[in-house]
Amino acid sequence: MHSIRRPGIDRRSLLASSASLLAAAAFPRGSRGSTAAPAREFTLVAAPGRLSLVGPPYPDTDVWCYNASVPGSEIRVRQGDRLRILVENKLSQATTVHWHGVRVPNAMDGVPFLTQKPIPSGEKFVYEFEVPDAGTYWYHPHHHSSEQVGRGLSGALIVEEIEPLPVDRDVVWVLGDWRLARDASIVSDFGNRMEVTMAGRIGNTVTINGRVPETISVRAGERLRLRLINAAGARIFGLEFRDLRPLIVALDGQPAEPREPPEGRVVLGPAMRADVLLDMSGQPGATATVVDTFYRDLSYRLVDLAYSSEPPVRTRPLDPPARLRANTMPEPDLDNAEKHTATLEGGMMSGSGMMMGMGGHGMGWSINGVAATGHDMAPMITLSRGRSCVLAIRNQTAWFHPIHLHGHSFRVTARNGQPTRDREWLDTVLIPPREAADIAFVADNPGDWMFHCHILDHQDGGLMAVIRVT
Ligand code: C2O
Ligand code: CU
Repeated sequence: MHSIRRPGIDRRSLLASSASLLAAAAFPRGSRGSTAAPAREFTLVAAPGRLSLVGPPYPDTDVWCYNASVPGSEIRVRQGDRLRILVENKLSQATTVHWHGVRVPNAMDGVPFLTQKPIPSGEKFVYEFEVPDAGTYWYHPHHHSSEQVGRGLSGALIVEEIEPLPVDRDVVWVLGDWRLARDASIVSDFGNRMEVTMAGRIGNTVTINGRVPETISVRAGERLRLRLINAAGARIFGLEFRDLRPLIVALDGQPAEPREPPEGRVVLGPAMRADVLLDMSGQPGATATVVDTFYRDLSYRLVDLAYSSEPPVRTRPLDPPARLRANTMPEPDLDNAEKHTATLEGGMMSGSGMMMGMGGHGMGWSINGVAATGHDMAPMITLSRGRSCVLAIRNQTAWFHPIHLHGHSFRVTARNGQPTRDREWLDTVLIPPREAADIAFVADNPGDWMFHCHILDHQDGGLMAVIRVT
């Protein structure tokens, strides 16, 4: 990725123009013609590549890349910017790119057959949209997702705040999960039926920014903003930062009240993000370990944060951070909201080894009794534009599901019938087995939007639906 053209203006007028773009973005999409700022231009070339994921003595791995890297080049822009992204498909199969969590116009959403034709091998497509909200987002294909993401196609999309949080370093960790053979090649058993009906294709090799990490160096006293992105197809992470006190400042890109994570563990299902403020409180030369404890009995050390021997950046700890400024989502009107239910069913029953009785739904998973066979579906729910909606999602399966809604962010207003403390804004909500979550949003973005599980095997296996906003 490279920026072909940047606005040739100084910082002050950039801030002013971003602020006016932001104001424009808060209004219905139709008013956008008036925002004539030059677009930030990027190119993403999707193509096979060969990279060192594991490191010596293991050989390199054949992967699929954006711009010859895994993860793909980071796209970093500022809130209110207009982006113009040329995607060139040099894969041997069709693809699309979805801008996960960004509230784009429907035609730019990258969903094959629903919002666009897949980009054939050898062809190009230009995505163009504004980024109304700051935060940590990511991009990935939405066509044959399990395999395309599983072979390496994903990248970070960072939208900086107009007034960023003061930190010493802004660090992005794209967390990847791979199933590798002994020669470090990718095992090609995508779509394995057994896994599709269980936890999905969980791999055996975890990477940070496309590399199996040993240590990451830090400096005593520094404050990091760590942007965690779970780009895995199926693995859920539960990260503990031993000896540190992480503070979550944003979830799925959306500002959150700064707090330590529940039980000291940052839990991220596939596609979920957390911005974590880390004050490196240890001594020069010390080590802090990051452990993933999500799956019981399968804990492992993800990486060591190794303090350099340099003297601390500061001697007195910094004050706790202020809350980030709210993004531009309209507040759902709960009293007058339309109420709907989405019931998730299917999958293997845990323990019994039996398939649930799915009638004719051979794919294994369903929402409200319908197993999707492709993206181009009749809508499950139709909402008129501007209407508030409360959607009760009931997970009646034996498996976790990170459920994602396109085109909108939503508040999680209740879990298992109890109001949530923070009513957090998310775009992907992780629902444990046999639990429920209520999400609330204003249907302000017209179009047909995917609503699906982000365990990509579950998605491919039918756990998706369409919500139409007219
Ligand atoms: Cu991350 Cu339907 O997408
Ligand atoms: Cu799922």
